[in-house]
Amino acid sequence: MKPIRISMLVLCSAVLIILVLFGTAFTRPSYTSSNVNTPTQDTCRGCHNGSATAGGSTVVVFPSGLTYTPGVTQHLSAKITDPTHTRGGYLLTARLANSVTSQAGTFTATDTNSRVYPNGAIQDIDAVNFGTLTWNFDWTPPAAGSGSVNFYLIGYATGAPGGSTNGNGAYLSTATLTEGSATPDFSLSASPTSLSIATGSSGTSTITITPKTVLREALLCPHPACRLALRPRSVQIQRRPQAS
Ligand code: HEC
Repeated sequence: MKPIRISMLVLCSAVLIILVLFGTAFTRPSYTSSNVNTPTQDTCRGCHNGSATAGGSTVVVFPSGLTYTPGVTQHLSAKITDPTHTRGGYLLTARLANSVTSQAGTFTATDTNSRVYPNGAIQDIDAVNFGTLTWNFDWTPPAAGSGSVNFYLIGYATGAPGGSTNGNGAYLSTATLTEGSATPDFSLSASPTSLSIATGSSGTSTITITPKTVLREALLCPHPACRLALRPRSVQIQRRPQAS
């Protein structure tokens, strides 16, 4: 290798190293994770200081209430209320209530204000835009039978007054969602559910299919290869008087 090539290589490496160093010096340090074993721990404290201010709080907003339908994605928000600061950051982790070291469901960032960070077998979602106090994202609950899910949220309100790491509004909250029943594919009901018919009489029981679209799908496809089929379309049982 010619000397000119070597010096170019050294120069490029130096530029790269400087970029990496400045990158870490001027942006926030590589993100803190939630504590795997003790998710209630405030892992921001130490680098950041501050206290919970009167009138301040942090909460996860659950638009469908404190229950989840297995596998059905929910759009959630992490929200900080602080009497003075207008900037902030959050860290949220979801764990199975019956095993808090286990991940519950999956988070998905829905915009550039939040990002999902792997933390061993745990997955945290964090703020990457600090110019707000509300962040929105998706959470897809675990499969049926997972039981209750605990959410552990850390919210830090930063900036003036104080600094980016000093005099912050420091808040923690936890919430528990209970498992609701899974949405059925379709259901059938009969009215009346049973019927006894006297000799010579007739009777009717109406079978209702919910949702109605299932009935249409079944009617449109009456052969055995169909995903859905209704056979026969109606049941008629009639005892005729005995011919004498
Ligand atoms: C290892 C130390 C360290 C940890 C742990 C840490 N931070 Fe920071 N954080 C910093 C430093 C240093 C800055 C300032 C970076 C700068 O000013 O460029 C900062 C900046 C921030 C900012 C931006 C402040 C502003 O107003 O621009 C927010 C918000 C923030 N951190 C939130 C958090 C939260 C929430 C946690 C915990 C989940 C956390 N940090 C954990 C060191 C840390």
